[in-house]
Amino acid sequence: MSNHSATPMDGGAPAPARCTPADVGQALTPSVIAIDGPAGSGKSTIGFAVAQALDYLYFDTGAMYRAVTWMALARGIAIEDEQAIGALARALHVDILPPTGGQADGRNSVVVADGEEITEQIRRPEVDGQVSAVSAYAAVRAALSEQQRRVGLRYGGGRAEKRGVVMVGRDIGTVIMPDAPVKIYLDASVEQRALRRHRELAARGKQVPYAEVLAALIRRDRIDSGRTLSPLRAAEDARVLDTSAMAVDEVVNAVLRLIEQVACVPKGGADGGW
Ligand code: DC
Repeated sequence: MSNHSATPMDGGAPAPARCTPADVGQALTPSVIAIDGPAGSGKSTIGFAVAQALDYLYFDTGAMYRAVTWMALARGIAIEDEQAIGALARALHVDILPPTGGQADGRNSVVVADGEEITEQIRRPEVDGQVSAVSAYAAVRAALSEQQRRVGLRYGGGRAEKRGVVMVGRDIGTVIMPDAPVKIYLDASVEQRALRRHRELAARGKQVPYAEVLAALIRRDRIDSGRTLSPLRAAEDARVLDTSAMAVDEVVNAVLRLIEQVACVPKGGADGGW
């Protein structure tokens, strides 16, 4: 992945003074920031913080695949039954809402499926264990991709109450919003990602041995990257950030810096745009 990182991650020269996060909403067209990367790379933490800084909507697309997976488990639909899971994905009404006062699950969205709040359920280990298989089904991807693209186009086109949208997932830069002017691919070593996930689970009172978390991540990486449809990979024009040795604030600042460069330096200018 390092072949995409032609520019230093500190963003090089500081952005022009006029280029503040407050200007970015107006300057980016469409106003879409795509953040992709493997499980545990920090997409949700970073994406949420960046969305807050820019007053953009934060949209965690993985929560939709998780919602379908949880509802299948809850309704006793066999995960192997591709047809039934596809029908569920088409029929299910999933809302990914901004958190209101302490309501979220620590991953920054409230999730409602067919009127039932399932924010906590979609983060359970049984969902972790099955969601990669569910998200590899063509019918599931078709149903959810279309909804995601619609949200992206509406918010990215300034036709909603927010100035833009930060979309977080696996295929946002490659498939869902290929015209996004800012694409970031967050990466980190699998050991570091497992450590983060292990701590995140512990913070929610779930003591899962590190070795188990690591094995589950390796398995999910294999399915997410190896599937035929929209496999996890960095878009050609994505900036790759390896966050293994970076603190959250450092990553957020690096991402905001990159966004400012794209939004405020004219293409073909001193930096050559992206
Ligand atoms: O980001 P996450 O771990 O919550 O995502 C859950 C699963 O959903 C992940 O294993 C792959 C899938 N996914 C996807 O295929 N495409 C997306 N845009 C987002 C998630």
